[in-house]
Amino acid sequence: MYAQMVKSTGTGVKSLDEMEPEERAFQEKVDADIRIEARDWMPEGYRKTLIRQIGQHAHSEIVGQLPEGNWITRAPTLERKMILLAKVQDEAGHGLYLYSAAETLGVTRDEMTEMLLSGKMKYSSIFNYPTLTWADIGAVGWLVDGAAIMNQVPLQRTSYGPYSRAMIRICKEESFHQRQGYDIMMKMAKGSEAQKRMAQDALNRFWYPSLMMFGPSDANSVHSEQSMAWKIKINSNDELRRKFVDQTVPQAEYLGLTVPDDTLAWNEEKGGYDFAEPDWDEFFDVLKGAGPANHDRLEARKTAWDDGAWVRDGLTAHAEKKRTAKVAAE
Ligand SMILES: [Fe+2]
Ligand SMILES: [Fe+2]
Repeated sequence: MYAQMVKSTGTGVKSLDEMEPEERAFQEKVDADIRIEARDWMPEGYRKTLIRQIGQHAHSEIVGQLPEGNWITRAPTLERKMILLAKVQDEAGHGLYLYSAAETLGVTRDEMTEMLLSGKMKYSSIFNYPTLTWADIGAVGWLVDGAAIMNQVPLQRTSYGPYSRAMIRICKEESFHQRQGYDIMMKMAKGSEAQKRMAQDALNRFWYPSLMMFGPSDANSVHSEQSMAWKIKINSNDELRRKFVDQTVPQAEYLGLTVPDDTLAWNEEKGGYDFAEPDWDEFFDVLKGAGPANHDRLEARKTAWDDGAWVRDGLTAHAEKKRTAKVAAE
């Protein structure tokens, strides 16, 4: 049923006059910033786009635990280990909220998981890059959670009620994540020469993949126009990317690190930085599965799904037993 999900859902945006009465009523609610709830009428394209977007967001939270979970046993101090453990657990929680939000649209978590494992649904391309050193955990918190916040803060006002409410809670936790990452970077950047080099190297490797997190430039973004009319998307990809660069460059300067972009310069006239675009060919290659860690990430999820089969079977059997006992008692 959701096989078409990864494709674009519409051709152009309809005007109110072109809509049937129920669609017009829906659009007027969206325009008036009234939240759409699970039982309300909604266009099929809206439902499908939301399932794709929320499902992919949920998968990203879950797959995003892998590069960081990789460092839990190797965190340099007990305190760092506890903080990282708590952060990774937060991401699991985000995944669960979001799967639940997507389920209100008529898709099950099992279906979404199967679509992830079969490659029909994606997760954020950033998690296909490996975390090679402890400084990478700092860079991930600072840049990746930082970019996630930039994306997610406007989504607190998204038109679909369950998604918007999930975002409000998630954003509170994300700002902690970014601070813990920046705190690691501070320690490294102000530490020994070797630590400073490690911090710079992490920034070098994560800078462009972080810029890619906002998606392709507006001209090449297939879902944008309709999604913005539906208020599933609030800002354009380029707009958010610019905001992220403007916010992050001074933070890098404060750390005494150099953003790996020779063209980076403050542009007084536009009141923002000029900066180089990421390599979009690399982005599309990673999306297609050719990133450095795509294979490992999906294998880890497949193994987790297979290893968890006995738990799912056990819970289903137990629920069935309770149900039969209840029926017999009645
Ligand atoms: Fe998260
Ligand atoms: Fe996070």
